[in-house]
Amino acid sequence: MRGASLRGCIDALLGGDIVALPTETVYGLACLALEEQAVDKVFQLKKRPSDNPLIVHVLDLDQAQMVAVLNPIAKLLCNEFWPGPLTLILPKRDELPGNVTAGLETVAVRSPSHALFRTVLKEVGQPLAAPSANPHSKLSPTNAKEVLEFFGSELPILDGGKCTFGVESTVLDLTSEKPSILRPGPIAKDTLEEFLGIEILSGLPRTKKGEPQKSPGLSLKHYAPETSVRLYSCFDEILGLEDLTSDDLIIAPHDGMIPLIQSSSPAKVLSFSKTDEPEEIARNLYATLRAADFFEKKLIHVALLRDTNGIIAAINDRLRRASTLS
Ligand code: TXA
Ligand code: MG
Repeated sequence: MRGASLRGCIDALLGGDIVALPTETVYGLACLALEEQAVDKVFQLKKRPSDNPLIVHVLDLDQAQMVAVLNPIAKLLCNEFWPGPLTLILPKRDELPGNVTAGLETVAVRSPSHALFRTVLKEVGQPLAAPSANPHSKLSPTNAKEVLEFFGSELPILDGGKCTFGVESTVLDLTSEKPSILRPGPIAKDTLEEFLGIEILSGLPRTKKGEPQKSPGLSLKHYAPETSVRLYSCFDEILGLEDLTSDDLIIAPHDGMIPLIQSSSPAKVLSFSKTDEPEEIARNLYATLRAADFFEKKLIHVALLRDTNGIIAAINDRLRRASTLS
């Protein structure tokens, strides 16, 4: 795909426009975080509800301090895991427009490692707000062509190839009593616990009646293909299904399982990977769900991966959100 030029993207951003940029996780729809009107344009283009805050992307600690207040734990984490797929929820600074954080007093900040995104951050010289480059509730794009299919050629897209991780960053809240993972991602809970030497909670904290939701966007079911997805707790359950027809589609963890399933089932079979390695499954996750849509079957059958460690927690989280039936 012939994407936009680096210079063209930088100029568009500085002029208050939106561009799609590659990150190591998924593609993002970027704009100047400190420009309220530019941020509004992102919400409009994405059709994102205004109560769902954006992540602010920064080059380094200095840019992070332009939008957030960093405590000692935050600084330790940034020094260890940035640049990379770790987003920290921190108290926001007043300079950051309220629409970025959907009115919350906290802001999500991360420093992406993709070389092209970093060049843009350096040249623009200020933080960029960037949600994933998908219309609200659709699967996040992991290559430039998918962004083009969503938004058309009017949007400048910087083509940085296929994303390394394929699932969105780990979101870690540092503004509650104990750190907690609001969204599992490529940086695992165990890794963070080992590094900090303290327990980290998982999931959204319970909110009392009348209190604002901790992370509005994360309570929603999304990251879903158009076709309904039925989720099973292990793949053996899918292998045991006897009433499948050619209207069904099964996604197996790896290619090696396809002949076995095809020999006993009329269902269409795709797979998430060649190697069965979680990293490859994550990288192909959204593209495979999108490919499954292409066959226009009645139902997609997928199973949670065994285990919960490493990136598997993120894969299983996204499969749960993609599924409408279980
Ligand atoms: O890997 C990623 O994080 C990608 C790339 C583009 O960087 N970005 C991404 O952004 O996934 P988005 O907007 O699709 O997801 C951000 C999530 C949302 O679910 C949002 O609700 C949550 O982070 N979030 C943002 N600000 C928050 C805040 N102040 N408090 C709690 N959750 C927040
Ligand atoms: Mg998103």
